[in-house]
Amino acid sequence: MTATSASRLRPFDEIPSVGTLTMLRQILGGKGGRIDMLGPLDRHYRELGPLVRQPAGPFRMVNLFGPDACQTVLMDRDGIFSAERPWTQIMGRIFPNGLLLKDGDEHRKHRRIMHQAFRRPVLRTYVERMTPMIERGIAEWGGMGDFLAFDAVKELTLDMAASIFLGVDLGPETRRLNRAFEDMVAASMSRIRLPIPGLEFQAGLKGRETLSAFLCELIPARREGDGSDMFSELCRAEDEDGSRLDDQAIIDHMIFLMMAAHDTSTSTLTSMIYELARHPEWQERVREEALGLGKAVLDFEDVEEREALTWVMRETLRRYPPLPVIPRVTTDDFEWCGYEIPSGSMVVVSPIHTHHMAEWWTAPWTFDPERFSPGRDESKRHTFMWIPFGGGPHHCLGFKFAEAQIKGIMHQLVLRYRWRVDPGYRMPLQQAPISKPMDGLPVALEPIR
Ligand code: HEM
Repeated sequence: MTATSASRLRPFDEIPSVGTLTMLRQILGGKGGRIDMLGPLDRHYRELGPLVRQPAGPFRMVNLFGPDACQTVLMDRDGIFSAERPWTQIMGRIFPNGLLLKDGDEHRKHRRIMHQAFRRPVLRTYVERMTPMIERGIAEWGGMGDFLAFDAVKELTLDMAASIFLGVDLGPETRRLNRAFEDMVAASMSRIRLPIPGLEFQAGLKGRETLSAFLCELIPARREGDGSDMFSELCRAEDEDGSRLDDQAIIDHMIFLMMAAHDTSTSTLTSMIYELARHPEWQERVREEALGLGKAVLDFEDVEEREALTWVMRETLRRYPPLPVIPRVTTDDFEWCGYEIPSGSMVVVSPIHTHHMAEWWTAPWTFDPERFSPGRDESKRHTFMWIPFGGGPHHCLGFKFAEAQIKGIMHQLVLRYRWRVDPGYRMPLQQAPISKPMDGLPVALEPIR
């Protein structure tokens, strides 16, 4: 930043602000004490403008609103928005060295190698592996008494992760690994981050040891073998120069991948089940489309062809992005809307807020999948107005995998069951750290065949 431009800028402390206590009260003020991000963000934007400072002890923190801000921060053309710094602070003890916890050349190098495990032919083999698991998994749902959609989806996606990510067959080993993994996820969200026996955090550290030891022992065989699971793909992956990941990098990336994949897909599927229960006309439309395809299961080639299902998925991700906000830390001074944002500030952009801006979306609080139909596609008004998978260098590496998994499950679900919720029911959603229903989402499930 030049001296002349700096002199015209207003200092950080003059950015309109909301007090930390007010913010916390608003965020935790959702019904039943659940975390609500959208309400406060929307209010701050409307009352205070496109950037809002949030005093947070010694830290400088600012929310930037709107698709332009999302684009500038996420695209990071000048290399001044670190993902490593905030994400390491948030999850570095339990998920160290994951791809999102890297910046610059190091990030590019690892991403290039990891991309090998997400190429189209490889994704096809994952889909082939997941199809019978979905069939088996949802067949059992019919027999459950009080059906909680979130719990059922979570169990299914965990079992799928063991098979598709790790190449482990269902059995006692899966249960042990799933347990270890769940302990890690709980620990990463735990408020008390001390390794004290009996506390969540300590269980998470132990979970990490269990999973690391399991992966470490298998790496030599997976490097030599021809397995079609993600772990095997990563063990064999190399970039155009022939560089490979070392053993520790494989372990760290695998553990991070499982975390990045699991709660996000579970959250999206649960929100879709909810919206399709509240909008039976859309449930029927997705079912009609599935019947029209004439296949009980979705092949890889069909994933992108399912029009109504695609719109429903996109609209659900608009209304309920699993990651409601995305943090960065500036590594250089930066200016936005006439204000100076010094190096070392935490800058937060919000998919959830951007997805509900009346300036960009028609009736943004209404569930309307048609808004994504080709003639009308509202998301085309700005490249960064629909960003559930982020954007720029850290754009979600697994978005195609997520799409295939979510659609594969929904395709089979609509063919096998009809479901509904009580007309007055509203899902009590906790929007952070990952969007999920606090009551597990009880739905009435009726088998079709
Ligand atoms: C609906 C499901 C998913 C959603 C909404 C989602 C969302 C996101 C978002 C918003 C980011 C960017 C975060 C940031 O910029 O700070 C991200 C990054 C990432 N996601 Fe996903 N994700 C999903 C599923 C998956 C799956 C299934 C995988 C792996 C199989 C995955 C792997 C990753 C990885 C590795 C990154 C880091 C990329 C990088 O730093 O280069 N995600 N995801």
